[in-house]
Order: sequence, then structure tokens, then C-alpha cells
Amino acid sequence: MKEKILTLGIETSCDETSAAIVVNGREVLSNVIASQIDIHRLYGGVVPEIASQNHIKVIDSVTKQALAEAGTTLNNIDNIAVTYGAGLVGALLVGVTYAKALSQAAKKPLYAVNHIEGHIAANFITDKNLCPPLLCLVVSGGHTSIVNVSGYNAIETLCTTVDDAVGESFDKVARVLGLPYPGGPQIDILAKQGKPSIKLPSVLLKDGNFSYSGLKTAVINYCHTITQNGGEINRADVARSFSEAAIDGLIVRAKQILSKRKQNRLAVAGGVAANSYLREKLNELKKSGYEIFLPSLDLCGDNAAMIASRGYFMFLENMPVAPDDLNAEPSLR
Ligand code: KG4
Ligand code: ZN
Repeated sequence: MKEKILTLGIETSCDETSAAIVVNGREVLSNVIASQIDIHRLYGGVVPEIASQNHIKVIDSVTKQALAEAGTTLNNIDNIAVTYGAGLVGALLVGVTYAKALSQAAKKPLYAVNHIEGHIAANFITDKNLCPPLLCLVVSGGHTSIVNVSGYNAIETLCTTVDDAVGESFDKVARVLGLPYPGGPQIDILAKQGKPSIKLPSVLLKDGNFSYSGLKTAVINYCHTITQNGGEINRADVARSFSEAAIDGLIVRAKQILSKRKQNRLAVAGGVAANSYLREKLNELKKSGYEIFLPSLDLCGDNAAMIASRGYFMFLENMPVAPDDLNAEPSLR
């Protein structure tokens, strides 16, 4: 095998158009991200049709820029990896169609990447020596679960949310508080100035899964009651109380699973991995003896470097390449 395998990653599952070049799944040569956040903020959330249109507009230039920044050409690329699910169907189709065309024209193998497995792979970029086995807490806008990563290509879900995802609940609560999209980072900032003075329900269910809809409803009801009584909502306290309730259950459950499985290594993946309260709690776990792995902040959100990394590890262990009729799978688990 060649000493350096170059993977071109392509990611268009939501509102970021991204292309990246990664060497051997760990060294990022380029990671270009064209964010549409400013466009969707005007509507208070992602508008799927607008997302697809903007991916179409920039996908080719973003990919060319990624190749140029890496100082390489499509000819030198060994593999292409593209997100094929989960995500918005029209957005995914842009990346999938573009990657299929590139792969067939340039005769490069194409790997179909599960977006969440890409988020997990971000940890292998940040920590060059990290390898399975480990547990991973997946916390994104669409997913909330704890998975067992027993091998690069062996990932098993141990528990998950039964309704909303944690990032989704951050965004919904932010909207109730009148904060702009995307709400997660806004709540994070506001929570630092607040106190956890409001009693809110736990997200941890008796069966070990999570539920965020009850927490969200409790915050909405709390805010409505205050306004109906002519009071003023202390937004910082709501943000702080909500953040703690949203994160504490995840930490409790992660500790339970680690101790039950006699494991000590916990990685984190997805946009909410950027949350400062979560990082604070994980730091406490680290101090109490657990091995904690966190992607660097620039790799927490959606990006193509993590997709390229995931594609490389599929290539490394001879996973099948994408079929010619590869389609977008919006509800991929
Ligand atoms: O992984 P991601 O970029 O996209 C999905 O795959 O869903 O995650 C986006 C989610 C959004 O819900 C966003 O509000 C949330 O991650 N998020 C945060 C923070 N940064 C992003 N939530 C809480 N605190 C943050 N600092
Ligand atoms: Zn994501």
C-alpha cells in the first residue's frame, strides 16, 4: 500500500458545503467550509430547498479550493468519500451526485459515509494516536446516543433519544428565548451568565434512553407562565438551567455505561461537543480518572475532513465501495 493515501471528503448533509483533503485519515491538508448560516438565520432555521440551491452553487468551487489549498489535484487523490445520510434529502443529493460524477470521471473509488460515523472519526483527526475500542457520546442536531466503537468499522448503538435530539432542543429553546439561529452556541454564551435556579426534568429515562421533548416543553411552560403573570424571564437563568438539564443526564448515563462495561475511554462527537458546560463536565470526568477525547472545536460542527477520515478507515479495512446507484438516505441510522 502507498505510504500516503489521500482522501477527498465531500459533505452537504445540512447547511454547510464542505470539501477536504486528508492524509491517512488523520492529517488534514485542507478543510474548506462554505457555511449558509447567514442565509438561514433570516428564516429562523434551515430551509431545505434553499440549502440544496446553495450547495449546487458552491460545491464545485469549494472542492477546487480544497484541492488547491492542499497543493494537489484530483489526479493525485486515492479515494473519494461522501456523506449519503442522514440529513436533508435535497442537500445530500447534491453531494452524492457530485461525488459520483467525480468518482466515475476520474476513476477513483467512492466510499458512502454515514454522517454520524464521520462525526465520530473527527476524534481520530484530533488525537493522532486514538484507536478503538472506545465509547462515544454522539451529540448533534439530529442525533443523541452513546455508541460502542469496538473497531473502526464496528459501531453499535447502546442507547439513544426516543424523541428530539439534544442539539435540536438547544435550537428550540433558543427560539423560545428569542435568540437567533443556530441557537445552541447562543444558549452556550448566555448560560455562562446565568444560575441553574429553575427546576427542570431529567432527560434520562428509566430504560437508559434519553427524552428531550419533556425538557423542552417544561422550558416553554415555564416561560409562558412567567409572561402570563406579567413577569420578566431571566433568559440567562433559563439558558443555564436548561443546559445543565440537557447535559447532566448524558454524563450520568455515560458514566453508568462506562462502569458497567468496565471501560475507561469516552470520546464525544457532533456539534454539541462544542458546548462549554459539556466540556466542563467532561473535564471533571478526566480529573476523576477517565480518558476523555474531544474533537478540536473546528471539527465539532459539520465538515468534510471528518468524512474523508471516515472514508479512509472504510478503505483501510476493505469495506465495500459505494454502488453505482448510490442514493441519498435522509433517515439513515
Ligand atoms: O453536528 P452538527 O453540526 O450538525 C448535525 O449533524 O446535526 O450539530 C449542529 C447542532 C445544532 O443543533 C447546534 O445548535 C448545536 O449543534 N451546537 C451547540 C453548540 N454549537 C453547536 N449546542 C450547544 N452548545 C454549543 N456550543
Ligand atoms: Zn453533523
